[in-house]
Amino acid sequence: MTTLLLTGGAGFIGANLVRKVLAERPDWKVVNLDALTYAGDLSWLEDVLGDPRHAFEKVDLADRAAVEAVFARHAIDHVAHLAAESHVDRSILEPAIFVRSNVLGTQNLLDVARQSGVKRFLHVSTDEVYGTLGATGKFTEETPLAPNSPYSASKAGSDLLARAAFHTFGFPVVITRCSNNYGPRQFPEKLIPLMIANALDGKPLPVYGDGQQVRDWIHVDDHCAGLLAALERGRPGEVYNFGGETELPNLTVVRALLAILGRGEELIRYVADRPGHDRRYAIDCGKAKRELGWMPRQPFAAGLRATVDWYRSNAAWVARIRSGAYRDYYDRQYGGRLAPGSAPGH
Ligand code: NAD
Ligand code: DAU
Repeated sequence: MTTLLLTGGAGFIGANLVRKVLAERPDWKVVNLDALTYAGDLSWLEDVLGDPRHAFEKVDLADRAAVEAVFARHAIDHVAHLAAESHVDRSILEPAIFVRSNVLGTQNLLDVARQSGVKRFLHVSTDEVYGTLGATGKFTEETPLAPNSPYSASKAGSDLLARAAFHTFGFPVVITRCSNNYGPRQFPEKLIPLMIANALDGKPLPVYGDGQQVRDWIHVDDHCAGLLAALERGRPGEVYNFGGETELPNLTVVRALLAILGRGEELIRYVADRPGHDRRYAIDCGKAKRELGWMPRQPFAAGLRATVDWYRSNAAWVARIRSGAYRDYYDRQYGGRLAPGSAPGH
């Protein structure tokens, strides 16, 4: 039996990966460590909570003693580290939380995992550590790190700490950097689920700036397939980029959603831009294809339709998430932007 400690397993990508590992690796056990922040939700895993191959540990990675206790309770072979504060807009409102969870939390985990003799440590990172691109070109694994938001700076900090653990201690770390994920159960603060949820409610769709910022979209299942491949076959000390090879301006994505939902463009509101907004991301994932035998498989149009269907069928979940603390966040983030008379995005 291989025991995998998976951090962030109550989050969007982590929960998908928990399910994938339990389904596809019958001789693996998953220890799911998550602090259950606003973004963590165990209802996503209700059907596997009783599975003897799944153990949940509610732990904050910034609490080193609690992390040590998890390693004392379980004989961990591998680590897949996904837990992080993940939303750029929240990092602009409250950067310090990102340093605590993403930087200190990662260092604690690296230290304890190394001292416990972990054989493989997968550090899950983001293409945002590379900064922004002009009109042409793609990020490769050799692109220098130039993060622009507190979120991406905290992720770049954690990448460098993971890299240092390999170079200084020979700790077998593999780092992955992926582009924008989408799919079912994504927290409705991110572009696609936020626009779907607002459009279903007939609420305005807040497009930052001119809406011409470009993101590369990858289905969460494709990302999880890449993460499992990197965990099992990635070379220690190496970085692997993942992307969906689907580069689209935000406005194109928003219009596609409106078309699927049968709603009109009058819902679109151009609002004040995100400060420091990265203009364009694009990923060269040739190394992952060559070395890991991985490729993105889900066509964006079909994946987007299925995602809209999921949000339509799970309105109660969305309503529960969007009540309470989410409303405070929404007011703080969008109240001024959507107020009558506020400056338009362009
Ligand atoms: P998410 O916000 O949906 O989930 C993050 C999870 O981490 C939550 O369950 C939360 O409770 C947990 N967490 C946060 N701080 C913690 C702490 N201090 N201790 C323990 N648990 C904590 O995020 P996601 O979108 O699933 O992203 C997962 C990982 O993938 C992150 O590291 C993110 O940087 C990376 N990533 C995300 C994307 C994307 O498009 N979403 C793309 C590339 C990389
Ligand atoms: O590239 C990978 C990254 O993708 C991950 O590391 C992050 O965890 C993830 O949140 C995501 O970051 P982005 O900032 O690219 O994603 P977000 O969904 O917040 O925004 C996507 C684009 O849409 C971005 O250009 C900002 C824009 N946007 C977003 C929101 C929430 C809007 O125009 N309006 C909005 O209300």
